[in-house]
Amino acid sequence: MLAELQQISKYYEQPGSSSRNQVLQDISLQIADKDRIAIIGPSGCGKSTLLNILGTLDSQSSGKVILDGVPVDHMNEKHLAGIRNSFMGFVFQMHHLLPQLTLLDNVLLPLLPRKDRKILFSAHKRALKLIERVGLTGQLKKYPFQLSVGECQRTAVVRALINQPRLLLADEPTGSLDAVSANQLATLLTELNLEQNVALVVVTHSMELAGKMDKIYHLREGKLALIPK
Ligand SMILES: Nc1ncnc2c1ncn2[C@@H]1O[C@H](COP(=O)(O)OP(=O)(O)OP(=O)(O)O)[C@@H](O)[C@H]1O
Ligand SMILES: [Mg+2]
Repeated sequence: MLAELQQISKYYEQPGSSSRNQVLQDISLQIADKDRIAIIGPSGCGKSTLLNILGTLDSQSSGKVILDGVPVDHMNEKHLAGIRNSFMGFVFQMHHLLPQLTLLDNVLLPLLPRKDRKILFSAHKRALKLIERVGLTGQLKKYPFQLSVGECQRTAVVRALINQPRLLLADEPTGSLDAVSANQLATLLTELNLEQNVALVVVTHSMELAGKMDKIYHLREGKLALIPK
């Protein structure tokens, strides 16, 4: 299995109260190679929390996260950072591009920890190909403020794919886009899923985007339920 959540629970202590706020309750999920999974649910139900736990950006109160067969609970931050960098890519609602870097340099940023010149050379070539693939070759030297929100978001997708991750986690990737750009990005994600052999887990309010995934899960009251197609 590519990634697995086993009985994940997450709660927050409430300051000044003995009760606690239980956000996720005993959630299990299996993600296989090239899966396309959508997670939907009302605001505040814990979608981002769940995605961040899967991405090892947040920690669970109990349960296990297993990536590529390896439980991550006892890994130190350095080891985890390495896994995040090579195994997973992240796309968020706001692109999080660095304003002081060009489109190309933003895309190449995740390669910073790499030292091997051969790897860097082939990654650079792959960056140019992916940028062409998403239709941004003409904008290589532009800075984020000179790009549209949709173009920034496509750049963020390329950046997330630069290390050839096997799992792409996206939190409301179309949330700040207009309908046309949102639809384009949704199509792009599904095409890249096939072309790049990358599994997708997408948190979204958009049924249009969710509908492009193979499985849709509904998160409500801390529980995850598969919606029958
Ligand atoms: N650091 C924190 N301390 C206490 N409670 C928190 C913390 N972070 C999140 N929560 C609570 O956890 C719940 C789930 O938050 P989360 O951001 O995962 O929701 P979401 O489903 O992603 O919502 P949205 O669709 O609005 O993005 C919310 O009730 C939130 O208030
Ligand atoms: Mg959220």
